[in-house]
Amino acid sequence: MHSIHIPVLLQEVIDVLSPKQGGIYVDGTLGGGGHSEALARRVGPEGLVVSMDRDLEAIDQSEQWLRQVFAADSDRRNLPIRFVHANYRYFDEALDLLNIEKVDGILLDLGLSSDQLADRRRGFSFDSEGELDLRFDPSEGETASELLARLKEEEIADLIFQYGEERCSRRIARRIVERQQQSRPLRTARELAELVRACVPVRWKTQCKTKKQNKHSVKIDPATRTFQALRIAVNDELGSLQGILEKAPQRLKPGGVMVVISFHSLEDRIVKNAFRDDPRWEILTKKPLVASDEEIECNPRARSAKLRAARKY
Ligand SMILES: C[S@@+](CC[C@H](N)C(=O)[O-])C[C@H]1O[C@@H](n2cnc3c(N)ncnc32)[C@H](O)[C@@H]1O
Repeated sequence: MHSIHIPVLLQEVIDVLSPKQGGIYVDGTLGGGGHSEALARRVGPEGLVVSMDRDLEAIDQSEQWLRQVFAADSDRRNLPIRFVHANYRYFDEALDLLNIEKVDGILLDLGLSSDQLADRRRGFSFDSEGELDLRFDPSEGETASELLARLKEEEIADLIFQYGEERCSRRIARRIVERQQQSRPLRTARELAELVRACVPVRWKTQCKTKKQNKHSVKIDPATRTFQALRIAVNDELGSLQGILEKAPQRLKPGGVMVVISFHSLEDRIVKNAFRDDPRWEILTKKPLVASDEEIECNPRARSAKLRAARKY
């Protein structure tokens, strides 16, 4: 089955990266393969896209689909993609193994894919009976429910506040610990979502990107921030992002471009500061690029996407 994930800001990614025939690019977040496909078509049989993901299911599904797509295209039997099951923070090790010294561009499209959200076994979807897991790579590290069972009340509150920017973090942490003390540990995503909804009021978020555009009013599920915080923690998402941003300039050719699409302010701040503070970068996006109203209408997930790009001097 092909992915249900729609790549965000696809045209913007192509415009900024401007992939060239014969070029070498890293897609650190393969997901459903939409961005990798577009890159592979532009680099052609002489080029290469190194497509990475921590999620083996995403790798398997996208590899199968992309092999079919490129085999059906009689001019391009040679699929110019290498699939790598690894954290993108180790992209330099993947390049070493492929004997590639420097690349023309790096793309990150952060967060989780619609396929992961729809997979009811993995706990990403708030109303699923799946285990409260939230790992991109289920073979590595502890699950969200194991993390909650290990941490003290104060640590849980700090985590939810720091990574979810959730104002009701203390109340949520207290309820989680009370439940655990009654020998009722949180096992499923639904159990956590119900607990959080009982602690946090529903909020509406009004988005208005430019004066010309219509306002989008979106109802935010009260559980969103807590799930985001736990997902960031179990996957060390911010550590991975910082890791690749530190190493990227060494592995980009002069003139090579890095593009990062983020979905919340913590990630966006890390990208913005990394581009600003390292003199090896020339910033290409003074303000982040965001999705048009048309794109948001077709793909509501695009509403919080922010694209930042920088060129290696
Ligand atoms: C938003 S999706 C990418 C969608 C993709 N651009 C497309 O066009 O379909 C993000 C993907 O990145 C993966 N991911 C998240 N953090 C990662 C990391 N540190 N290293 C590698 N993959 C990661 C997730 O497993 C997920 O499949």
